[in-house]
Amino acid sequence: MTPRADPAGFILANTRIHAVPHAPEIRLHLADEAMELWQKTEDDLGALGLPPPFWAFAWAGGQALARYILDTPELVAGRRVLDFATGSGLVAIACAKAGAAHVLACDIDPFAKAATRLNAALNGVPLEVSDADLLQSDPPQVDVLFAGDVFYEKPMADRVLPWLDRARAQGSDILIGDPGRSYLPKERLTRLATYDVPVNRSLEDNTIKRSSVFRLCPSGPQN
Ligand SMILES: C[S@@+](CC[C@H](N)C(=O)[O-])C[C@H]1O[C@@H](n2cnc3c(N)ncnc32)[C@H](O)[C@@H]1O
Repeated sequence: MTPRADPAGFILANTRIHAVPHAPEIRLHLADEAMELWQKTEDDLGALGLPPPFWAFAWAGGQALARYILDTPELVAGRRVLDFATGSGLVAIACAKAGAAHVLACDIDPFAKAATRLNAALNGVPLEVSDADLLQSDPPQVDVLFAGDVFYEKPMADRVLPWLDRARAQGSDILIGDPGRSYLPKERLTRLATYDVPVNRSLEDNTIKRSSVFRLCPSGPQN
């Protein structure tokens, strides 16, 4: 069976269960250094037109958000939340564990949808998971919207920021987790917390990435 026909089977065959380094309360199906999944996917799945396996890693921005949510459960307890660009589902799972009333996790990669479902089951939490491109319509009405590690390339950043602004104008609280990627809109953010996050050496330039949780603000320099 091709990976495209059986994403869950591909994920289970190419990952191992690991505790998330900076949020060990959560376990995920992740690639490790030994698995070279990124390269395998570039070679094998790239030929099939599939994107890189973002879903197989707990990215620095997502780990920072997950830590913040688990340590500040009142932020989401009893509230409706969206984890935009969920990847593995890490931030969404943190929200569910912290007592969110409803968690929607979205990512346009169907493998991320499958990974998020597997990871939600692994952690015993209920999530709604979607692979629709939510950027093409008005943001859903949620109390808190999370975006972990989404400012790594310009085309995406150019689409995401105006959409987050629309969500903010609708009344959502917007929290961003990021290690200082190139297109992070720093001038629009208030920093809430900073952590030294262990990351995958094969993907990043270091084994630790200093990463922060920010709140999106209306305009002007914050701090
Ligand atoms: C660097 S990963 C971050 C994943 C996760 N938030 C984390 O921090 O571990 C970026 C994710 O953005 C997703 N993505 C890209 N464009 C998207 C879009 N238009 N809507 C939703 N997700 C998108 C990718 O599929 C990928 O899973």
